[in-house]
This record gives sequence, C-alpha cells and structure tokens, in this order.
Amino acid sequence: MNGKVLVAYASKYGATAEIAEKIGEVLRQAGLQADVLSVERVGDLAPYGAIVLGSAVYMGQWRKEAVAFLETNEPALAARPVWLFSSGPTGEGDPVKLLQGWRLPTAQQPLAERLKPRDIAVFHGRLDAKKLSLAEKLVIKGVKAPSGDFRDWEAITAWATGIAAEVAK
Ligand SMILES: Cc1cc2nc3c(=O)[nH]c(=O)nc-3n(C[C@H](O)[C@H](O)[C@H](O)COP(=O)(O)O)c2cc1C
Repeated sequence: MNGKVLVAYASKYGATAEIAEKIGEVLRQAGLQADVLSVERVGDLAPYGAIVLGSAVYMGQWRKEAVAFLETNEPALAARPVWLFSSGPTGEGDPVKLLQGWRLPTAQQPLAERLKPRDIAVFHGRLDAKKLSLAEKLVIKGVKAPSGDFRDWEAITAWATGIAAEVAK
C-alpha cells in the first residue's frame, strides 16, 4: 500500500476516540504511518492508502458526522481498502450477540454494501452515567444498559493487528 492509514472517528463522550487512538497505536507499532482524527478534522483523503472509520452508536444510529463523512467521501472510500467499526454495547458477552447481529445502522447498509469494507467490527463501549444528560440517563435506564467501561482492548488490538497485516501486504 502507498501512503498512510487514516483512522477517523465520531465520538460524543470520548470512548470511541480512545478506541481509534488504540487502533492507530497498533498500526504504528506495526511500522505503518497512521493519522487518528475526528471525522470533522479530516481534510484531503489523497495521502491515505487505507481508511478505518468508526462511530459511537446512539439509539441504533451512527453519529451524524460519521454518516456525513461516509456519504461525502463515498468515491474516495470506494477506491481504498476500508474497515468500519461501531462502538456501543455495554455489558458482558459478544458485542454482536448483545446487539442481536446488528453491526451497522440500517440506513448505512446500502452504502456499506457498495464500499465492500474489509470488515465491520462492533466493540463494547463505555457509559459514564455521571456525564449523561437526564434524557440520556432515561434511555439507558429504559434499555437497562449497564454503566461502566466495557471496552475490550484485547479485541481492539487483535482487530487492528489484522488490519496492519493486510495493509502491509
Ligand atoms: C442515550 C444513549 C443511547 C445509546 N444507544 C446505544 C445503542 O443504540 N446501541 C449501542 O450499542 N450503544 C448505545 N449506547 C452506548 C454508547 O454507544 C457507548 O456508550 C459508546 O461507547 C459511547 O461512545 P462515545 O463515548 O465515543 O460517545 C447509547 C448510549 C447513550 C448515552
């Protein structure tokens, strides 16, 4: 691959940003160049040979800035290897099972099918009840999502290691 890897993320409370930073760290340890940026700070995609894009999940949706990034940059994304991830569920167990097979919002599935991402991962997230608005607290209570940091750094590292191996090919 020519160029750097972009790890772009959309995060409200920082959990997804830290997952993106971890992915960037693993890529750099594997000898690749990687930029980790909030989607709103990404400019020209030309320097990037591969792109990893992740968003926090709220009420079954990606953050709107992640959706905008995906839609605006479809041609550039389609021309490069792409990996997608969602950061969401809290609680024990396989995150995809916790979400009953959900990986991406329904609205983004047609675009994802066109992009043919190398993989779509779902990672456990973090909920800090103290930081949430009253409305958010009510939602969390309603769906009985446990508070706490459930991010699985081993799973994130393993996924990023796989990306590094493919990109280096
Ligand atoms: C109001 C609210 C709604 C949420 N809805 C979902 C959801 O539908 N699916 C899910 O997996 N996680 C959901 N979550 C959990 C967040 O996605 C999770 O905490 C994530 O790691 C937060 O990332 P961030 O800190 O980058 O914003 C929700 C959290 C809040 C506060």
